[in-house]
Amino acid sequence: MDSFLDFFSQISWWGWILIVLVLVAIRDIFLQKKHTISHNFPIVGHLRYILEKFGPELRQYFVANNREELPFNRIERGWIYASAKKENNYEGFGTDRDIYAHHHIFINNAMMPYQISENHPNAIDKTFLPCAKVMGAFHKRRKPYRPASIINVSAMSFGSLSAKAIESLNKGVKIAGAYHNTGEGGLSPYHSHGGDVIFHFGTGYFGVRAADGGFSMEKLVTLVETNPFIKAIEIKLSQGAKPGKGGVLPGAKITHELANIRGVEVGKDVISPPNHTAFSNVPEMVDFIEKIAEATGLPVGIKAAIGKLDQWGELADIMAETGKGPDFITVDGGEGGTGAAPPSFADHVSLPWVYGFSDLYRLFQNKGLSERIVFIGSGKLGFPGKAAMAFAMGVDCINVAREAMMSIGCIQAQICHTNRCPSGVATQSKWLQNGIDPTLKSERLAQYFKTFRKELIEITHATGYEHPCQFKMSDVEINVDDHNLSKELNKTYMYEKTPVPFTSMQDLKDCLYLGGKN
Ligand SMILES: Cc1cc2nc3c(=O)[nH]c(=O)nc-3n(C[C@H](O)[C@H](O)[C@H](O)COP(=O)(O)O)c2cc1C
Repeated sequence: MDSFLDFFSQISWWGWILIVLVLVAIRDIFLQKKHTISHNFPIVGHLRYILEKFGPELRQYFVANNREELPFNRIERGWIYASAKKENNYEGFGTDRDIYAHHHIFINNAMMPYQISENHPNAIDKTFLPCAKVMGAFHKRRKPYRPASIINVSAMSFGSLSAKAIESLNKGVKIAGAYHNTGEGGLSPYHSHGGDVIFHFGTGYFGVRAADGGFSMEKLVTLVETNPFIKAIEIKLSQGAKPGKGGVLPGAKITHELANIRGVEVGKDVISPPNHTAFSNVPEMVDFIEKIAEATGLPVGIKAAIGKLDQWGELADIMAETGKGPDFITVDGGEGGTGAAPPSFADHVSLPWVYGFSDLYRLFQNKGLSERIVFIGSGKLGFPGKAAMAFAMGVDCINVAREAMMSIGCIQAQICHTNRCPSGVATQSKWLQNGIDPTLKSERLAQYFKTFRKELIEITHATGYEHPCQFKMSDVEINVDDHNLSKELNKTYMYEKTPVPFTSMQDLKDCLYLGGKN
């Protein structure tokens, strides 16, 4: 035995390395059958797998240039991080964008900016920027709602995001006077920290689900009555990353807490079908909306990604004829995010935001309906310049999902679907989310929203207006290669925006239905 140990102790360190390499080579060539590359190129073949694994991180940190990455490039991410931390978010030396690039947008500034008086609401608060329209005003809902912020948190459920992330977002919207959309997973205790909430549900009816998996009006009414911070209801028809795609929530993921919140059984797979069971065509959907509005008194809207327009045309006809229908429509772009979706859907199904929104707005405008609907846009709009374009096209508010995630620490690792999110934002792992301090992160979300609003107000003033709802299509141009050829939005998308009946920022401040007060 001693001579055996003596033999091993005489092997030098490089001898050990050699032995390990020989063992790996034997395994690669003779024992494993799964990987052709490591069979054909023993040992070195492993390098390929290692580099493939760390490639995205290496590219993100060392190789990709500032404007290269998608969905959000380094400059965009950096702007959100700096804004959220109230750090210097300026850039020096001038833009690093190619401003002659195809589809680059220009905002036409006025010769002299809009001037505010000493007592103007924005002289008192540089970040005060409420929605210029009131949700539910046209349909005379019992509890109309004017969002106190034009930027708000888009639908993301507890389940796709961690408890700590949801808590941070909710506390953040409270500080910023914005609203927090629950996403499809029901209303959780983490959504209940004082911020205005838009309760959102899809085909799974989580949180308002009857025993047979259908929709329960009784549960919705109780939910709204016991949680007065719910200001509106959003029915999800589809989202840009996966329109028309149902989903399965695996039983293994359904803990007692999740089951309670969603109204499902512990440990049992739950299917969200592609279609709603509460309605099966457009007239039934309008009835459903009206019943919910009547039972709860709240404004009711729909969220969808846009593709074909025939059913939207039917909806517009019904709205024009009956005076009924959704109080708000959230248009999500094909570039929108998700917790998990097949790439074939995320890459190809539904139109990018500008195409989808312009098609839809024009359709409703042609029926004389644009004034009575609050239009909400989502799809990488959480940057003041892009938001100015969206306002020129007719949105009244924007929703942000991934930008909000980044403001509370998301690093765009793009592994939300694996439960291994390193920043603790999109995971249910207790260990990973323990790194999130909701008090600090809520301040970050609020600061991002405030900085965003301040910069959008500054762009608005530079364009000669008081509120971004006053932007016209002709105020923004989109580059099609030469200024002679670059087209104003109205000529590109072929409509003029319906003017929003805006009087003054002071009137919005004095509005009875202004949210964010509680
Ligand atoms: C993690 C995650 C979860 C989401 N969950 C939902 C959801 O439950 N319902 C929904 O309609 N959209 C959902 N979305 C889509 C967003 O609400 C939003 O429409 C989309 O990401 C576009 O906004 P963004 O570009 O600011 O991220 C989710 C997005 C993300 C990133």
